[in-house]
Amino acid sequence: MSQTSEKERCINNYNYLFRKDLLQNKVAFITGGGTGIGFTIAEVLMRHGCDVVIASRRLEKVKESAATLSAETGRRCLPLQMDVRDPKKIQAAVSEAMKQFEKINILVNNAAGNFLSPAEGLSFNAFRTVMDIDALGTYNVTKVIFDEYMKKHGGVIVNITATLQVRGQVFQLHAGAAKAAIEAMTRHLAVEWGEKGIRIMCVAPGPIEQTEGFSRLGGKAMTREYVENIPIQRVGTREDIANTVLYVVSDAAKLLTGTTIIADGGSWLTSENNLQRIKKIMTNQSKL
Ligand code: NAP
Ligand code: COA
Repeated sequence: MSQTSEKERCINNYNYLFRKDLLQNKVAFITGGGTGIGFTIAEVLMRHGCDVVIASRRLEKVKESAATLSAETGRRCLPLQMDVRDPKKIQAAVSEAMKQFEKINILVNNAAGNFLSPAEGLSFNAFRTVMDIDALGTYNVTKVIFDEYMKKHGGVIVNITATLQVRGQVFQLHAGAAKAAIEAMTRHLAVEWGEKGIRIMCVAPGPIEQTEGFSRLGGKAMTREYVENIPIQRVGTREDIANTVLYVVSDAAKLLTGTTIIADGGSWLTSENNLQRIKKIMTNQSKL
């Protein structure tokens, strides 16, 4: 769990594309909402009238981020300590959230763990750890919030996946397997829970600048050639992903369930996935 302790910052001059009251009176529960993409999803939902719970392992981090988010948006943000691998901790956190807000209309399963590793370099525990956080963690939180609230009242669930699993990305066996499991789970639950007024979707980011995931997965070695290889000629931003989630949870997306929105500027279609070339890029990176 060794991530940087830099304070999260809100978006400069956020450009409102939707009505500011789009999510008025809604409550969202966002795992891993204290940092990175999850933080910006929390910010953008709050900017549209939503109150938010952000939950992850580091209480100090979610507390600090909740204060930043509330100060910027004027909405309530409840920080809670929770490990998505621990059903008892999740139950306690969800029960605290229900006590404070009396509802959870939106769940964003964003918490994840990842690192670059060749398949042959993964220990049993390394593979299991990523499956546990990403796939089981998504199931665990979804189950608790379904039981506690959505079963009776409906809601929208957004699972943050990735594009690694689509083409079998080099050195990403563990995360690709986990994200593929989440996408399958999403389809199963869409089929069973549609009649309860629950929509469940995946949003799959490509490379997103200024994130932990980006720096772990080779972002530091980004070259001009890499960027030119992306159809829209740039990497994604946290705001891009937050706006995609905003659309998915809004009533504008009422017909969407059981599918994945890939939000990556077309990157998965053209990105590098050659073992020898990626090994070379990584060797050059380690010399930087
Ligand atoms: P990040 O800032 O490291 O976000 C991960 C969050 O998950 C952290 O806030 C972390 O907080 C929390 N977390 C990790 N393990 C947890 C656990 N066991 N229980 C509860 N919370 C846990 O990374 P990010 O890059 O923004 O990634 C966010 C999401 O986007 C992930 O699902 C990732 O797979 C996806 N994604 C990112 C990119 C990218 O380019 N960044 C690309 C594709 C997909 P604590 O340490 O406090 O627990
Ligand atoms: N390469 C190969 N194996 C690795 C690794 C790497 N870079 N990093 C960790 N592992 C292995 C560990 O060696 C351990 O296996 P072992 O017991 O056989 O030695 C296993 O993974 C679990 O590591 P541990 O540090 O105990 O797990 P944790 O639960 O404390 O942390 C991680 C989970 C490893 C995913 C950690 O990086 C994390 O907390 N990540 C969250 C942030 C993040 O990844 N953000 C990006 C999201 S895209």
